[in-house]
Amino acid sequence: MKSLFSGMRPTGKLHIGHYFGALKNWKKLQDEYKCIFGAMDLHALTTSFEDTDKIGENIIDMIIDWLSVGLDPNKATFMIQSHVREHSELHLVLSMLTPLPWLQRNPVLKEQVKSLNLGDSFSYGLLGYPVLMAADILLYKSDIVPVGEDQVPHIEITREIARRFNFYYKEIFPLPKPKLTETPRIPGVDGKEKMSKSLGNHILISEPKESLEKKVMSMVTDPQKIRLKDPGHPEVCTVFYFHKMFNKEEVSQIEEDCKKGALGCVACKRNLAKKIYEYFAPIREKRAKYENDPDLVKNIIREGEKKAREIASSTMDEVREAMKMSY
Ligand code: AMP
Ligand code: TRP
Repeated sequence: MKSLFSGMRPTGKLHIGHYFGALKNWKKLQDEYKCIFGAMDLHALTTSFEDTDKIGENIIDMIIDWLSVGLDPNKATFMIQSHVREHSELHLVLSMLTPLPWLQRNPVLKEQVKSLNLGDSFSYGLLGYPVLMAADILLYKSDIVPVGEDQVPHIEITREIARRFNFYYKEIFPLPKPKLTETPRIPGVDGKEKMSKSLGNHILISEPKESLEKKVMSMVTDPQKIRLKDPGHPEVCTVFYFHKMFNKEEVSQIEEDCKKGALGCVACKRNLAKKIYEYFAPIREKRAKYENDPDLVKNIIREGEKKAREIASSTMDEVREAMKMSY
């Protein structure tokens, strides 16, 4: 069986973007690959090092979501990045062979600096984000990496780093490829191109009914459709985008009615909120079960870390040997 690593920064409960951009593939691939999934707490420090109080709680919340959507600890291995020291170790080694310009021209960094208003005072760690990610992926010799579209540039840098290592020392790393879902970039409720917690434009997988309704009612629609009878343009409407995902049965009728001015935005949004709530009902039920059993979740992580450490330490032995750093 081929291997696969992917991870998420522990920002707490996960949103629809995480689900349709990554988790759906994680779930499918756990039957086809030897999967390791990580809570990437070191990566979380790259933008929020000053506030670590909630990291532990966020990790548990995130892993409960993984379990609730159907990731199975009997098939996949769950771990926490900082608990498997080899991630930090390989990161340091790879940082030596990564040319600075590769990191300086990383488009994800540029976007982050802009959206978080970091100016030029961001950390050395943030600059090295893709190097740490390369270490995560290469430690487990991943062939593919299931992620959302925003992460693709990082996987390209990982390939470059792997190629460089293989060239200078020994061919030990496969060159990993990104694996995207059919919906690799989910927009926010505000119509911005990416749903994300830091932009506050997200809907949680476990969103309570009331706030879900509020968020859907606030969604951006076609600006040209002001009254019910105005003909709408579904192709520019965020509500319609989500109907395509959550309401496959009614979507063509909705498109037709919207276009001919037979369906108003309020009714259309109410319907969508209901469909999203129903879609995640089984996941919410499972979540409630795991929330009542935090020890179960902690044991799953402990077991996972043992397995991850074994693989990671054997790769590090190979790395040292390839680099002649052994005796
Ligand atoms: P993060 O919370 O940034 O660590 O993201 C974890 C995973 O979810 C990564 O694979 C992201 O690419 C993916 N992801 C996060 N937000 C979105 C989104 N709005 N659309 C698609 N994928 C996303
Ligand atoms: N950078 C990823 C994100 O923000 C999280 C991550 C860290 C990751 N290491 C990884 C994803 C390795 C895939 C593989 O979404």
